[in-house]
Amino acid sequence: MTFSELLLHWYDAHRRSLPWRGARDPYAIWLSEIMLQQTRAETVEGYYARFLARFPDVRALAAAPEEEVLKLWEGLGYYSRARNLHAAAKLVCCELGGRFPGTAAGLRALPGIGPYAANAIASIAFGECVPALDGNQARVLSRILAWEAPLKTPFDLLDPATALISRERPGDYNQALMDLGATVCLPKQPRCEACPAADCCKARAEDAAPDFPRKPAPVPKKEQAWTILLVTVNGRLLVRRRPKGLLGGLYEFCPVEGWPEPEALPGALDALGFGPTRLVAALPPSKHVFTHLVWHMRGWATACEQVPEGFRAVTRDELDALPFPTALKVYRRAAESLPGLR
Ligand code: ADE
Repeated sequence: MTFSELLLHWYDAHRRSLPWRGARDPYAIWLSEIMLQQTRAETVEGYYARFLARFPDVRALAAAPEEEVLKLWEGLGYYSRARNLHAAAKLVCCELGGRFPGTAAGLRALPGIGPYAANAIASIAFGECVPALDGNQARVLSRILAWEAPLKTPFDLLDPATALISRERPGDYNQALMDLGATVCLPKQPRCEACPAADCCKARAEDAAPDFPRKPAPVPKKEQAWTILLVTVNGRLLVRRRPKGLLGGLYEFCPVEGWPEPEALPGALDALGFGPTRLVAALPPSKHVFTHLVWHMRGWATACEQVPEGFRAVTRDELDALPFPTALKVYRRAAESLPGLR
């Protein structure tokens, strides 16, 4: 038997009993696939039933006030899914005469339908032979094939996944892979003894199922050196709001790029508009690791005579009320015990 035959045979005996299984109506299938994004099947079951009872077809949904749609979605999370669902229902009714596009390519033009959902809906509702490649399906297939190339996205497996899909029952095949991924081919401890495809699984033959999919090498983090200055002017501390972007909207002290020698700091600060400054005390070094970036920080307490453009001079109480990033917590704490701060 081929892989798809083994899988469908298993599905016919072991499929999970879920309320959208057996649905033929593209509207109901669409609804289930949107609800199932980022959400476990058990959680979706009740929501799906209530939603369909209130909005039995796409016209009922399109005619509803958005608030009512969101109310029925309450607790399911990722509310943009509900707003997109509603927008797509209006579009289907107003511009497509109430009929859903009958292909994955057509479905992708609707709000909220990405490549995964488009393929899942097109295969289940219209029998199109397209793989519903998400993380689960990619994990199962990367094991079956002992796929050595690291996967950046599940769609890296599009060609081999398309070659394996059942030509007769693509919708059941896709759902069988979902069930296999959810109940047998688990991420850390796959239950190979219960797998219908164990005998044709190349990773299993190598006794290495948990080692697939191969992961891309982590992108090396960018390293940056900063000198963080706590600058006081007349008993107040200089702070400013960070612009949009990394930690945007949070407050910071006076950052100077790199680690200039202490003798060079007053000159650098003068050039930035601080006027004459004097170094008061060295502060502890600190390191903060972001997702793609590492800050290596050294710090100094300093004093100057004027408030440069873009900065606010705040009292201790005002400082307390301002939001600072965790990345600066060492200096935020040091600021509390600055001798000259009022
Ligand atoms: N996850 C996404 N789509 C699904 C489906 N149709 N059945 C079970 N789990 C799913």
